[in-house]
Amino acid sequence: MEHYPAAADIANRRDLEVLLRRFYAAAFEDPRIGPFFTEIAGTDLEVHLPRIADFWERALFRTAEYRRNAFAPHAALASVRALTAEDFGRWVQLWHATVDGLHRGPHAERAKAQGERIALALHGRLAGPGASLAGSENRGFIPLAALQLRSAA
Ligand code: HEM
Repeated sequence: MEHYPAAADIANRRDLEVLLRRFYAAAFEDPRIGPFFTEIAGTDLEVHLPRIADFWERALFRTAEYRRNAFAPHAALASVRALTAEDFGRWVQLWHATVDGLHRGPHAERAKAQGERIALALHGRLAGPGASLAGSENRGFIPLAALQLRSAA
C-alpha cells in the first residue's frame, strides 16, 4: 500500500500560488459560478492570480501589500447578474475543498474561515440595507452544503 505523507500547512507564496491555481481552475469549470469569470468578467487568470495571491499573502502572512479594491469587481458583476447566497455558498464549498485537498494546519483553517467571512461580508454588502427585508429569509445565509466537504475531510 502506498503511503502518503500527512498534508502540510500553507507555508508561503508558492503554496498559495499552487492552491489558488487549483481553486480558480475549479471555479472556472463550475456550472454555477464559472460564468461570472468566463462570460461576464472575462477574467484573465494570469492577471488575476498575482493579485489574488497578494490578497491572500497579506491576509495570512502579512508579507505582501494589497491595496486594491476587492469589493468593486463584485459590485460590477452583481450589476450584470445577481450574486446570490447560493453562489457564495458554492464559492465557499470550492474554497474549503481545495484547501482541505492540499493542506492541514492553522493557516489552512484561517484561510477557510476568512474565505467564509469575506463571502458573508460581500454578500451582505451587495444585498445592501434596502434589500435585506426583501430577501430576509436568505440574509447572511450560506448553504450548509458549503460545510459538508469540510466535515467529511
Ligand atoms: C460567487 C462568489 C464570487 C465570484 C463569482 C467572484 C468573482 C470574481 C471576479 C469575476 C473577479 C474579477 C477578476 C478579474 O479581474 O477579471 C473577482 C475578483 C476578486 N475576488 Fe472574487 N468572486 C467571488 C467571491 C469572492 C470571495 C468570497 C473572495 C474572498 C477572498 C473574493 C476575492 C476577490 C479578490 C481579492 C478579487 C481581486 C480584486 C482585484 O484586486 O482586482 N471573491 N472575483
